[in-house]
Amino acid sequence: MKIITEALELQEFTKNSNKTIGFVPTMGALHEGHISLIKRAKKENEIVIVSIFVNPTQFLKGEDLDKYPRKDEADKKICELAQVDVLFFPHAKEIYTDDEASVLAPKVRGYILEGATRPSHFNGVLTVVMKLLNIVTPTNAYFGKKDAQQLNLISLMAKQFFMRVNIVAVDTVRESDGLALSSRNVYLTHEQRKEALKISASLYLAGKMVSKNILDTKEIIKGMREMLEPLEISYVEILSRDFEKLWHVELGNTIILVEAKVGSTRLLDNIWL
Ligand code: PAF
Repeated sequence: MKIITEALELQEFTKNSNKTIGFVPTMGALHEGHISLIKRAKKENEIVIVSIFVNPTQFLKGEDLDKYPRKDEADKKICELAQVDVLFFPHAKEIYTDDEASVLAPKVRGYILEGATRPSHFNGVLTVVMKLLNIVTPTNAYFGKKDAQQLNLISLMAKQFFMRVNIVAVDTVRESDGLALSSRNVYLTHEQRKEALKISASLYLAGKMVSKNILDTKEIIKGMREMLEPLEISYVEILSRDFEKLWHVELGNTIILVEAKVGSTRLLDNIWL
């Protein structure tokens, strides 16, 4: 596996390659969820490039940028074992300078759900993803469905900026008890981890209600909120795949999303129906 830290060197590498490139952007602390993105990229491309960059612009003041889990050596080993061809591991000054142009998230879809409590978060995500995609110029770029709003906004950006990349959505990986994998799960104590199971349980409840033909979104949200108690809920929403409000679940066009705080850790999860 080749490790590249400079954008120009990576651009040179990809410019001279006439192979299909699969790209998996990450912030490190890799887990099975990331490995499933890498495996999918391996299956569908001749070369796989992974980036590890904890992007400062997507953290708001007072968020966990400084304590975000960093496991550089373990991450390199995981990438090697997963037969990644190139690991892009840039320093922050390789990506950002003092006076920067940036991408702005759309005014509606970028400021609901996670964007409502974290204004400017998605500006940071879209800006860094735009930069990384321009450096790597992949054929396909892989993102997890767990971060459904991020995935939606990145797909939108790729389309609206006429970018030559195919954005691929990959299913969420869960622990055997249902907890969605996340780099932030390491913050949870044993007790909090048990509490966190309420999040996936509320989504399973929603799925069950839909299977019993209860399609009224208000009723489903009420049931989910009851199940989530006493967690601090940031949102429970039922939206279309385009992130528009739904009054009734539409099979094939619905995402049910939850964000709740367990201790001081924000956890996201969703199901696509
Ligand atoms: O999902 C993530 O890990 C990050 O938001 C991403 C897409 C790598 C951008 O920093």
